[in-house]
Amino acid sequence: MSFFGPKKVLGLDIGTSSIKIVELALGKQPQITNYGVIENVNHLTQPSKSLQSSAHAMGPENISDLLKQLLVKTGIRGGDVYITYPIFSSFATLLEFPALSPEEVERTISYSFRQYVPLTPEETAYEWVEAGEKKVTQPGGAEGEGAMKKLFFLTAISKKIVANYTTVVQRVGLGLKGIESETLSVLRIIRATSSLEGRVVAVFDIGAYATNIIVIRNGYVVVNRGLDSGGGDITRSIARGLGVDGSHAEDIKKHQGLTYTAEQAAVYQLVYFALDSILEEAKRVFGMYRTKFDESISEVVIVGGSSSLKGIEGYFSEKFGITTTVYTPGHYFGVKPEGVVALERAFPQLAVAMGAALKGKE
Ligand SMILES: Nc1ncnc2c1ncn2[C@@H]1O[C@H](COP(=O)(O)OP(=O)(O)OP(=O)(O)O)[C@@H](O)[C@H]1O
Ligand SMILES: [Mg+2]
Repeated sequence: MSFFGPKKVLGLDIGTSSIKIVELALGKQPQITNYGVIENVNHLTQPSKSLQSSAHAMGPENISDLLKQLLVKTGIRGGDVYITYPIFSSFATLLEFPALSPEEVERTISYSFRQYVPLTPEETAYEWVEAGEKKVTQPGGAEGEGAMKKLFFLTAISKKIVANYTTVVQRVGLGLKGIESETLSVLRIIRATSSLEGRVVAVFDIGAYATNIIVIRNGYVVVNRGLDSGGGDITRSIARGLGVDGSHAEDIKKHQGLTYTAEQAAVYQLVYFALDSILEEAKRVFGMYRTKFDESISEVVIVGGSSSLKGIEGYFSEKFGITTTVYTPGHYFGVKPEGVVALERAFPQLAVAMGAALKGKE
């Protein structure tokens, strides 16, 4: 610790509907010293007005204007920031190699890069991390026989998109320390706050117009799939179904969620069916995991703003028949008791930004 207290860093998560920021003091025990969320509510009335999506890139000016408002709102004046990029504008894949040294892995990946990513290594910012190992049985091999393959999780994003993010943070006077896939930020926060040995956890980050499904096996990411669906689609479904505007539908969704009442049975149905595309993709991921690793996913953890949807835990635990929880380990961050309740409520939506900020500790 310096004379001025522990060093502070920022984690920044720019989603399709909102921007999240977390300020961490990096002592022995990291401490949340500030955080906030700002929403771009225009998307509720004009779907094309999301901050970014798989269909359109973000406009750095609009985003930095909104980010500036968030800095004013939170009172965060500046600092070094770790920022995340979304799954929908990036590439992610799991690689299997025989045991290799890190240098050999790097050489092999850059040599055969175009097999995994439709861009060259020079055009991308890419990163790979270890992802555990897996026994590969040779065709015709006896039970129990087989070579161990090492697994590596590779993520990559076009440098052009990175340049956009750089512009955004520079325009508000922050210093960009690092950029990584939101998947790796989620992994870091979950690793830092729970013991993952022997567990196979499917994390669903359900935002506004995107959902990121991450399977964490023994503390490593082994599957990562994104889909263009989230809470914003539930709102649209209510708006269309009830013939109300987007803001009204958003209020109805937040008020009722998946709680069933005889008077509001239509809302229940609309919310229930709007979750279908996430459920179907999750089922595919569960199937893929079972085929690849010959075992089942044992629990679901939900993060993202849509984890606040009433009844969402019950929905997924019933569909998959496994423990499902919304992720809220606020206690880890040494927050003062009076701040804990508010933080616990906010935590699932802040998970990505929290994980990004924690990179400052590495
Ligand atoms: N109480 C609540 N009940 C239901 N949904 C909620 C509630 N609070 C927030 N949400 C939903 O959470 C979503 C925003 O979540 P989040 O901020 O994680 O998304 P994002 O990061 O902007 O989007 P994405 O991850 O899709 O890029 C919105 O659809 C919002 O309606
Ligand atoms: Mg998000």
